[in-house]
Amino acid sequence: MDAFARATVNHTGHEPHHGTAAETVLSAGDFQQAMAEITAWEGYAPTPLVRLNDLAARLGLGAIYYKDEGPRFGLGSFKALGGAYAALRLLQREIHASTGTAPTLEDIRTGRYRRAAGDITLVSATDGNHGRSLAWGCQRFGARCRIYIHAGVSPDRAEAMRALGAEVIRINGDYDASVAMARAEAEKQGWFVVSDTSWPGYSAPPRDVMAGYGVIAQEIFGALDSAPDSAPSHVFLQGGVGGLAAGLAAAFRQHWGAASARVIVVEPDRAACLFESARAGRPSAVTIARESIMAGLSCGEPSALAWEVLAEEASDFLSIPDALVGPTMRLLANPPDSDPPIRAGESAVAGLAAVIAAQAQPRLARALGLGKDSRVLVIGSEGVTDPAIFSAIMEGQDHD
Ligand SMILES: Cc1ncc(COP(=O)(O)O)c(C=O)c1O
Repeated sequence: MDAFARATVNHTGHEPHHGTAAETVLSAGDFQQAMAEITAWEGYAPTPLVRLNDLAARLGLGAIYYKDEGPRFGLGSFKALGGAYAALRLLQREIHASTGTAPTLEDIRTGRYRRAAGDITLVSATDGNHGRSLAWGCQRFGARCRIYIHAGVSPDRAEAMRALGAEVIRINGDYDASVAMARAEAEKQGWFVVSDTSWPGYSAPPRDVMAGYGVIAQEIFGALDSAPDSAPSHVFLQGGVGGLAAGLAAAFRQHWGAASARVIVVEPDRAACLFESARAGRPSAVTIARESIMAGLSCGEPSALAWEVLAEEASDFLSIPDALVGPTMRLLANPPDSDPPIRAGESAVAGLAAVIAAQAQPRLARALGLGKDSRVLVIGSEGVTDPAIFSAIMEGQDHD
C-alpha cells in the first residue's frame, strides 16, 4: 500500500454547473436506440458488476462496484460498444445518401445492403481498443476498414486489428498525429472517419460512440436498481478523450437525476487533458512528452462533445502516476482475501488506483468526500488486451 500513500495525485475541484448537456448532447432517445440495437447483436451479454467487499472494508468504504468490461463481445474492452455501433450508423447514413433508400440498422446488420457497404471504407486512428471495435464492426457489416496507429501502439494490439480484417498503418508520431493523418487521408480518398473524438464540425460518429457506451450504464441500473440504498455515491471514470466519462455521466444524470453520483475523472499525469481543461475552464490540449502505460488514456486533446458534458457534470479531476498501475492490477488479479480475482488491463485500473490512493491519503479522501458510507463505482474498462504487457506486469515489472 506504500505506493498509494506516496503517490503524487493531483486534484482539481471543479464546480459542476448543471445545465442541459446531459440531456441534449446525448438524448434519452440516442441511448435507447443504441441499447435496442446493440443488445440485438449476436454474442451480446451484460458484463459483470463485481462487488469488491473485502477491498471496500479494508479501505474503509461502504462498497466498491467494479464493472468488468473485459468480456465485452470477446473484444476485451468497453470500446466494442462504441466504434462498431458508430460504424453501423455511418453506413446507414451513407447507404441512404448513395441509394436513396432508407435502410434500418437491422437491414445493414443482417446483410441486406452488403454490396453497398462493401464500397464504403471506414477509417480511424486508435491506440488499440477503438480500432479493434471499428475493425470488428466493419467485418460484421461488410465495409472496408483502415486503422492508423502511432509508433507506441504495441505489436499485439496491431495484430488483433489485422486479424479482424483491417488494414493497419503505423505512422511516426503520437496519437494526435495519427488522428490528423486519418482525417487527411479520408478527405483525399473519399473515405469516412469513424472517430471516438469530436472536433468542430465533426460530431455524429463520436456522439454515436458515446451513445453505445450507454449500454454499460443501463446494465449497471439493471444490477443495482432492485437493491435498496445501492446507488453509487461516487463514480470514478478514467479519461482518454473523455467519451467514456461523458457518456456515462450523461446516462447517470438522466437515470438518477439530482441523486446522481459525484463524478470524478481520472487521467494519467502524462496526458491529463481533461484535468487541464477543468483548470482552464475550456477544452485544452496538452503535449505528451512520454506515453503513459495506460495506453487507452494517453490522449492529449479532449473531445469537444465530451467536454460539453463533463464541464457540467464532473466535480473533480485527478491525475495519477503510472507507478500505481502495476500494484492495482496485481491487487485485482491476486486479491489477499475473498474478493474474486479480476484480470484487468492497464487503462482499466485508473479509477480504482485513484480510489485506493485517496483512501491512503486522508486529505484527498476528505476533499473527495469519501468515507465509510461511500458506495464507489469504478469501470474496469478493459481486460487483458495486451497479453505480453499483462504478463510483464504480473511478474512485477513496474513503470515510473
Ligand atoms: C481501456 C480503455 N479505457 C478507457 C478509455 C478512455 O476512453 P475515452 O477516450 O472515451 O475517454 C480508453 C480509450 O481508448 C480505453 O481503451
